[in-house]
Amino acid sequence: MTSQRPGGTVKLGQHEIARIGYGAMQLEHVDTAAAGAVLRRAVELGINHLDTASFYGHTTVNEHIRAALHPYADDLVIVSKVGARRVDTPVRLALAQRPEDLREQVHLDLTSLGLEQVPVVNLRRADQGPGLIAEGNQIVPLDDQLAELIALRNEGLIGAIGLSNVNAEQLEQALPVGVVCVQNAYSVLDRSAEELLAICAANDIAWVPYFPLGSAFDRIPSPTGHPVVQEIAARLGATPAAVCLAWILAHDEHTALIPGTRSVDHLEDNLRAADVRLDAEALAALDHLS
Ligand SMILES: NC(=O)c1ccc[n+]([C@@H]2O[C@H](COP(=O)([O-])OP(=O)(O)OC[C@H]3O[C@@H](n4cnc5c(N)ncnc54)[C@H](OP(=O)(O)O)[C@@H]3O)[C@@H](O)[C@H]2O)c1
Repeated sequence: MTSQRPGGTVKLGQHEIARIGYGAMQLEHVDTAAAGAVLRRAVELGINHLDTASFYGHTTVNEHIRAALHPYADDLVIVSKVGARRVDTPVRLALAQRPEDLREQVHLDLTSLGLEQVPVVNLRRADQGPGLIAEGNQIVPLDDQLAELIALRNEGLIGAIGLSNVNAEQLEQALPVGVVCVQNAYSVLDRSAEELLAICAANDIAWVPYFPLGSAFDRIPSPTGHPVVQEIAARLGATPAAVCLAWILAHDEHTALIPGTRSVDHLEDNLRAADVRLDAEALAALDHLS
């Protein structure tokens, strides 16, 4: 079974997940039918790691996942995150970092996804960008948040704890809790989190970079638009997206990808990253891009 997982597998706590998974954030922009087509195709192609959040839409994305895939296969690992909530302002998100907020969001995940336990929950910190930065009563000590997540894990409402948007010091501080994954922004063009990846590798923690394709936001540099990536893609007969993802996969074995797309064609393209063989020349050129 595991041999059919795209990109092979990597350990996420007690789970074995495909190294190419799927980030569902883009699905907040599409209807249930279009979202269902992408999600069902992802699972059909061997993906068993979905990344979501209750604040992707007003639980819209969680509801898409439930509509398409519930009752869930035993080996499907749905990972959510806490630390923000959806609001009806132009920014659309508000921070929700206090321990009671984290608990409320886990309950929102449970009801909207139709789960008795969220397999993994990432604590999304807001000390640094991208995104909102914590101020006032949203500045919460990491230990207070971890204590709440440990309580939720003891109660069986979450299966395991991950971290997102942290620095190396925070990850080291949280290690005794039993962190199973770390999500930070990272791509072939943005290697600012390389130190975190090294800590993950040393502690057998899954490294789950977000924005691996530069996101849908204009302000994030696009690795797929970089001329070196495009030249390598043309030479190898792959797409720029597949080359960007293949480089992250090749860079460290602890990586689990969650590229986001609202398109079945792009989903299939992203899975082809598993078959892209970057030769020494391509690897050297990509290694030096950042
Ligand atoms: N922990 C955190 O704080 C955090 C923050 C942000 C995101 N995330 C997670 O990380 C996941 C990935 O991030 P993301 O979706 O923002 O960014 P991303 O994966 O870097 O890029 C998504 C963008 O790339 C396009 N795209 C995808 N595949 C493509 C392909 N093969 N060819 C051309 N374009 C392609 C998508 O457009 P189309 O829809 O048109 O394909 C979309 O505009 C999210 O879905 C979410 O689950 C986590």
